[in-house]
Amino acid sequence: MPEVIRKVEAKTKGILSGEATGHDWYHIKQVRDMALRIAEKEGGDKELIELAALAHDIGDRKLNANEEEGDALTVRVLTEAGASPEIVEKVMEIIRHISFKGAEVGDDMSSLEGNIVQDADRLYALGVIGIARAFAYGGAKNLLIYDPERPPQRHTSKEEYYKAKPGTINHFYEKLLLLKDRMKTKTGREIAEGRHSFMEEFLKRFFEEWDAKD
Ligand code: ADP
Ligand code: NI
Repeated sequence: MPEVIRKVEAKTKGILSGEATGHDWYHIKQVRDMALRIAEKEGGDKELIELAALAHDIGDRKLNANEEEGDALTVRVLTEAGASPEIVEKVMEIIRHISFKGAEVGDDMSSLEGNIVQDADRLYALGVIGIARAFAYGGAKNLLIYDPERPPQRHTSKEEYYKAKPGTINHFYEKLLLLKDRMKTKTGREIAEGRHSFMEEFLKRFFEEWDAKD
């Protein structure tokens, strides 16, 4: 393993090890492993993909004072690990565009590597682990399990999306169920299908229990 990757991995582990809203080290590891698996089929620069996957949540807005500070921390980690300015710029370009920011907000990536890392990250907002992470996030942020009074909102700006505090089940309708159709690679889309169907099954049972029907 190249030295720069080993160093970014060690640093990321240190920064995110105790993170309880779904961005802990094992999330990073899963996204890295999935991104490399997708890259086996789709191609792309493996080193860039691995670095971007490892660094993608270091500067998360929820863990840093603001986006600028988060970006600065990520640049520092990459640079201190020995990444060249060109690689740092490519990784930052990916990280700045990776996140979902509302149903009506664009999330286009300018590189194949970016598409792969974005798909890998989103696959872990789906499926069983996606459900577990959503409830961990809701618990950490004191959100309702479900607010039946709230219609699904289609946010038109990231500011609006970041301000919203949906119940966790409501969040499925504002983000999680929309991800399948926003996957960028063929391989990512195929894996998303299975995870999406499991979530639909989960929601079906959730509402049967909610309405005392099962
Ligand atoms: P991304 O990695 O796309 O930036 P986030 O950091 O916003 O995603 O979210 C990390 C995890 O927390 C995801 O699994 C996401 O679904 C979950 N999450 C984010 N916002 C909420 C919310 N309002 N309610 C429940 N879960 C949430
Ligand atoms: Ni992530």
